[in-house]
Amino acid sequence: MKITVVGAGHVGATLAQRIVDNELANELVLIDIVEGLPQGKGLDMWESAPISGSDCYVIGTNDYQDTKDSDIVVITAGLPRKPGMSREDLLAKNVEIVKSVTEQVAKFSPNSIIIVVSNPLDAMAWTALKVSGFEPHRVMGMAGILDTARYRSFIAMELNVSTKDIQALVLGGHGDSMVPLPRYTMVGGIPLTELLPKDRIDAIVERTRKGGAEIVNYLKTGSAYYAPSAAVAEMVEAIVKDKKRILPCAAYLRGEYGFEDIYLGVPIKLGKTGVEHIFELKLTEDEKEALRKSAESVKNTVAQIKL
Ligand code: LAC
Repeated sequence: MKITVVGAGHVGATLAQRIVDNELANELVLIDIVEGLPQGKGLDMWESAPISGSDCYVIGTNDYQDTKDSDIVVITAGLPRKPGMSREDLLAKNVEIVKSVTEQVAKFSPNSIIIVVSNPLDAMAWTALKVSGFEPHRVMGMAGILDTARYRSFIAMELNVSTKDIQALVLGGHGDSMVPLPRYTMVGGIPLTELLPKDRIDAIVERTRKGGAEIVNYLKTGSAYYAPSAAVAEMVEAIVKDKKRILPCAAYLRGEYGFEDIYLGVPIKLGKTGVEHIFELKLTEDEKEALRKSAESVKNTVAQIKL
């Protein structure tokens, strides 16, 4: 198993370390355009392997030749947000970056599975699909697990219970119109709606929607990376170990939920071939309307992309 992480910034490097620590690959390639950065971080990480007891060999490079025949490629490259920016503000620059990265990935690792992390997420996953020419089950985006993790962490705080016991689902695009689903949120098997009044649930949903911006506002110079990298690591593990996890991820829709030619966060089955199934849930009229709004915002972003 060979995994390439494109982008040696906070998300890429933290993800790489999680992959090494959990020995999710035999070989990990960290690649970035900045000279020295992936080499330095990669070597430092490899030097941590004897302590963590990992045999995942790490190299850092600026040359795509070194990424040849990767099984999984995670694209984290791109500009992060600064306070006051929306994810959509990153569009023009990040389309350019994701396009050129994807061309290299398709050339050197034509059989890989691509996980996109760059923002605006759903539009960048769409870009990677179109540029790579890969089948849609091999190109997906990470967002739903992160959004769901934020939602779950807020519920755990509110109820003072273990994060482990909270199962939840967030649908839609990775933006302010994402759709957390309280009706599909369980706390140790008990529906959340039995445990919290509507106004508290609404407040948690709202905080979840703005969860990315909350971190950006604290950090000022960039966006979140601990939770995002943990979310990607969960996807990588599901693929590497063919675990058939059911996870919310950005997947390419061809008619599911009534949408065509769009990436949107939906529950998928994730295994060694990538997206193995898309689950379609029964939604109430209000939930459908919220999802439609979220899809519309993704469509508007994608409409501005010129490849
Ligand atoms: C976030 C950014 C990375 O949600 O999209 O933190």
